[in-house]
Amino acid sequence: MNSIVLIGYMGAGKSSVAFSLARECGLTFLDTDARIAALCGMSISDIFKEYGEPYFRDRETRLLKSLKEEGFKGILSTGGGMPLKEENRQLMKDLGTVFYLKAKPSTIAERLSHDTSRPLLAGAKDQAEKEQRIADMLAGREPAYEDAADVVIDTDEQSVQEIVDKILKSS
Ligand code: S3P
Repeated sequence: MNSIVLIGYMGAGKSSVAFSLARECGLTFLDTDARIAALCGMSISDIFKEYGEPYFRDRETRLLKSLKEEGFKGILSTGGGMPLKEENRQLMKDLGTVFYLKAKPSTIAERLSHDTSRPLLAGAKDQAEKEQRIADMLAGREPAYEDAADVVIDTDEQSVQEIVDKILKSS
């Protein structure tokens, strides 16, 4: 089986889906945020605070390159900004089949309503502002997500298991 790379906005369910997929297929699971946080010895929020977003983006590209070099095989869950760089889009295609887990802003806002771990969404004064921020960012990112994807999977009103099944059907 070809490796599977999951992309999509924060809260699209990439990590939970990747974890379940890996368990079902008996494959390795790797989450790029978790790996970068472990390598840096701090949370993603602290990396943004201490070193800034460009440093984090550079770490993301370096990680994809090293996974390609070591011949990573398995299920890879990526941070929501990973597809924004063209270089990353190519590296992800080199690593495996890229699935875009797509969700509406309202679904994402609902899933992230109690989340405080995403620095790019910090500081919204209420849920409506958070949803607007998500909608604006998503509109800007959509072309990159579509360009990076081999397959687009709709995740609105879908359980993790339903999403896993859809991915397995199209792999
Ligand atoms: C980001 C998404 C986050 C994390 C960082 C930036 C983004 O990952 O990489 O906070 O730019 O969308 P998740 O998509 O796993 O939340």
